[in-house]
Parts: sequence; structure tokens; C-alpha cells
Amino acid sequence: MQLGTSLTHFLIENQRTHAGATGDFTLLMNDIVSACKVISSYVNKGNLIGVLGSAETENVQGETQKKLDIITNDVFTNTLMRGGQVAALASEEMDEVYNLPATARRGKYLCVYDPLDGSSNIDVNVTVGTIFSILRAPEGVANPTEQDFLQAGTEQVAAGYCIYGPSTIMILTTGNGVNGFTLDKDVGEFMLTHPNITIPADTAEFAINMSNQRFWEAPVQKYVADCIAGETGPLGKRYNMRWVASMVAEVHRILTRGGIFMYPIDSKTRDKGGKLRLMYEANPMSMIVEQAGGMSITGYERIMEMAPTKLHQRVPVILGSKNEVQKVWDYHKG
Ligand code: AHG
Ligand code: MN
Ligand code: MN
Repeated sequence: MQLGTSLTHFLIENQRTHAGATGDFTLLMNDIVSACKVISSYVNKGNLIGVLGSAETENVQGETQKKLDIITNDVFTNTLMRGGQVAALASEEMDEVYNLPATARRGKYLCVYDPLDGSSNIDVNVTVGTIFSILRAPEGVANPTEQDFLQAGTEQVAAGYCIYGPSTIMILTTGNGVNGFTLDKDVGEFMLTHPNITIPADTAEFAINMSNQRFWEAPVQKYVADCIAGETGPLGKRYNMRWVASMVAEVHRILTRGGIFMYPIDSKTRDKGGKLRLMYEANPMSMIVEQAGGMSITGYERIMEMAPTKLHQRVPVILGSKNEVQKVWDYHKG
């Protein structure tokens, strides 16, 4: 599609290519877009409107919430609740499935989201984002339960994120490639600026939180040591390293210039299953990365094929440039 096409027109044209499409998905995406525009505005204004800092509350995962974790969750939840295209919602910041008020119109989709990813970065004015995943709701169920959300990543209808950086960019996949749209704030529209994104298959840039090194398993220890060994090491090239601590920012960098991102299993997070959340972070990012030609695994299996066991489930994540992720998989097999 032509550069500069608005996301609204992109969605409508997409809808026309699906025989029997009702327009419900387009309407749901419009709600997501509206919510992300509001979040972008809040994040942008920051302490001009007093939204930075801690809320001094904890979410269900035992993490201290930022004020903006709560505000963005409310914005996203309320917008989708009113839109009439979802049957229920689930968020990293809500303990349980959010069922709609009795009078609200129910739609045929479920949406799960991380309303503000990388929230430890807000107060220091570093990039954050919103991640979302769209699933089908079971037919004829007024109040879907946790069980209805526990679908493998391969079942996702669509996935995306909105990144609030120097510019605000919406990345979207509906299972037919990945496209990026930049928010023109003067006009209030997302415009197609990054069509058909593909991740270079090879890379020499890795991202991992090195402070966890002593907790890693042997394969990741070996891989990172081999990266650091550079040209004369077993991998035969000089690697660069990045760690933003916003998964959205890391994935966006990888979509732009390739790379590998790892939050592997380690002895510190083993009891919880890992650090990142399967439904809100790992599955949507895996779909985006795979649709852009990359790969996404736990170290032992493809993330999108995992059968989720609970809403707030955590998993190890290794994703990015295909050949590099394959190498790390081989280290785990070896
Ligand atoms: P969130 O802000 O939604 O809790 O997610 C933060 C995640 C992810 O975005 C990032 O890659 C990772 O946690 C950073 O973890 P460390 O602080 O352990 O590096
Ligand atoms: Mn997150
Ligand atoms: Mn979050």
C-alpha cells in the first residue's frame, strides 16, 4: 500500500480484501488507535499534568505500579469496553478477566494488553509503549472466563504495539506481514511510514540484562560469552550490545535494523516461569517478529505454540533475527 496512507484507510482497504468481513475488526482497531492516541498524549505531557511517579500500589504480579500504569490501563480498558467489539478484556495491570457491564454491547473479540510496557523508563523520559493481542471470543458466551483467553499465540487474529518515542508509531500485523504507521500529531492520524517491515536474518547486536548473568543457564552463558569474544571467538564477529529495559523499544530496534533480544529463564525467575508475560508481551511480540521474518522461542520451543495455563503466565523470551535466534536455539540443543 502507498506510503502516507492513513491507518484508517489501510484498515478499510484490508477489510475489503476479506470476503464476509463485517467491519467489526476495523472498528476494534479504531478503538485501539483512539486509546493509543490518548496514551501518547499523556506520556508526552508527563509532569505538566502530574502523571509521572509511583502510584504506591502493587499489581497482581507483585510489581509496584506507576501512576501511568493505572491511567493507561483505564484509558485502554474504558475505550474498548465502550466500543462494543470485545466480549472481555485482560491486562497485565488487572488481577482477573475484565467482564463488561451487563448493559454493554458484546463483540466477537477478546483483547489482552500491556497498557504501558517499560514503565520503569517513564520517569527518566525513555521510550515506553502499549502492546496488544486480539483473540476470538467463544461464541454465545456473555462473560468469557480466564479459560477462554488461554489460546496459543498461533490463534491470535492480530497483534501490535504503539511505541511512544521521539515519534509515536503503531506497528500492526493481522497475519499478513507487518506495517508501521507514524502519528502525525498535527493531523491526529497514523500514516503508513514503514510498509512491509522485514527483520534482517543476520545480526551482530544482542540485548540482554547483563546484571542477571550469574543466574543464567549454561547455553545463554556460552552464547553471550561467545558474542563478547568478538572476531576471534567462535562466532567470528564483533558484537554490539543494547538494553533499554522496554521490550517495545528493543523489538522496535530489531524490526528496524535486526538484532536479538533475550530475557531467558534464570535461577532467579525460574519459579515464576520467566520474567516476561506470555499473553501480554511474548505472544504479541512473537507474532510481529515472525510476521516480519524473524523467530521467537523460549530457548526450548516456539513461543507461539505454547498452550497457556494461566492469564498472567510468564515465559522466557528469545526473539529477533532468524539466523541468530536459531543459533541460540542450537546452543540449547547442544
Ligand atoms: P513492564 O514495564 O510492562 O513491567 O515490562 C518491563 C519488561 C520489559 O519491557 C523489559 O524488557 C523488561 O521488563 C526489563 O526488565 P529488567 O528491569 O529486569 O531489565
Ligand atoms: Mn511490559
Ligand atoms: Mn506494563
